[in-house]
Amino acid sequence: MDLYEYQAKELFAKHGVPITPGIVVENVNDAASAYEQLGGKVVIKAQVKTGGRGKAGGVKVADNESDVKEKAGAILGLDIKGHTVRRVLISEASQIVEEYYVSFLLDRANRSFLAMASVEGGMDIEEVAATKPEALAKIQVDALQGCTKEKAEEIAVAAKFPAAVMDQVVAILQNLWTTLVKEDATLVEINPLAKLADGSVVALDGKMTLDDNARFRHPDHEDLVDNSNTDPLELRAHELDLNYVKLSGEVGVIGNGAGLVMSTLDVVAYAGEEFGGVKPANFLDIGGGASAEVMANGLDIILHDPEVKSVFVNVFGGITACDAVANGILQAIELLEAKGEKVTKPLICRIDGNNAIEGRRILDESGIAVVERVETMDEAARRVAEVAR
Ligand SMILES: Nc1ncnc2c1ncn2[C@@H]1O[C@H](COP(=O)(O)OP(=O)(O)O)[C@@H](O)[C@H]1O
Ligand SMILES: [Mg+2]
Repeated sequence: MDLYEYQAKELFAKHGVPITPGIVVENVNDAASAYEQLGGKVVIKAQVKTGGRGKAGGVKVADNESDVKEKAGAILGLDIKGHTVRRVLISEASQIVEEYYVSFLLDRANRSFLAMASVEGGMDIEEVAATKPEALAKIQVDALQGCTKEKAEEIAVAAKFPAAVMDQVVAILQNLWTTLVKEDATLVEINPLAKLADGSVVALDGKMTLDDNARFRHPDHEDLVDNSNTDPLELRAHELDLNYVKLSGEVGVIGNGAGLVMSTLDVVAYAGEEFGGVKPANFLDIGGGASAEVMANGLDIILHDPEVKSVFVNVFGGITACDAVANGILQAIELLEAKGEKVTKPLICRIDGNNAIEGRRILDESGIAVVERVETMDEAARRVAEVAR
């Protein structure tokens, strides 16, 4: 899960990384009261989970109440790279002398952690990496040893931080590493890490990604969840514990096993080309030992997608034999109809594997009009695309 800047900075502060005080608001009147508390000169910053807010007009300076209201009003509702701004952070404006960059991230390719640092922060770090790679220090951090004082010094020296800020940067690196470890993050980034006119070094921006696999040990992180930009079908699927990803297309896909579902998406997209570009509408893996109830939940989600015109049920019977799967499909339809949700979209089913013959017989003899059985995966993909069109 990615965090908003204000959330990331709160966690930074919890572990001793210096930040500037700020208040998050959702409307102009609250922006005005926030200004009353902060006073002086403030920065109004769009809170969206994407970078480059500055360039997109999402960061503005103001120094009186009407100015704050006007600028907060302009930023709220703004669309930044497809993200609608619903909240702004009003922060004390800092007198910046220099802008640096520091981050730690999980480096999957090297099975390690990576520290990156540069004295040329502020702007797009990708641009620095591309045009001036020598200005971006990259140092591996061993997961077990962590970012010790020596490691932090190695990073700061490699990035050529000026002597005047060395001690502060070394301490910030250590505390930032602690944030990554204690909060189970896969990324912590400060850009800019700013040196201010009074010589102090503070995090003026923050980016953080939490590792969802560790969510169970951070009950306090539940407060950070924000679903205002999550697809409602994905949200419901998540509540039902389903592995569902919404895509944009007309063919609902349901299968067992991530690999089978991935290849189903491919064959549907391929077959769909012949029918004017019909595409898969989602990824949904109901897993190996799926019950009728799980099948019903899955179908329920897919059939609620208004874009879906037809559904491809692609199951390979392994642990669960095909006859159980076939009965599961029929029971799922019954369960849905019992809830008053009549199934009208065609379900193209391909089942193979353990006890396939019996499973196919059950489907063939079901007498349910929307269920159509097709022998092979390719034929089924073609048929489901044809029906969708
Ligand atoms: N509190 C602040 N005081 C003064 N300037 C700021 C402050 N916060 C951000 N800025 C300026 O705005 C720029 C962009 O802000 P930042 O938070 O990094 O957003 P983004 O990375 O999304 O563009 C920073 O590089 C900095 O120059
Ligand atoms: Mg930034």
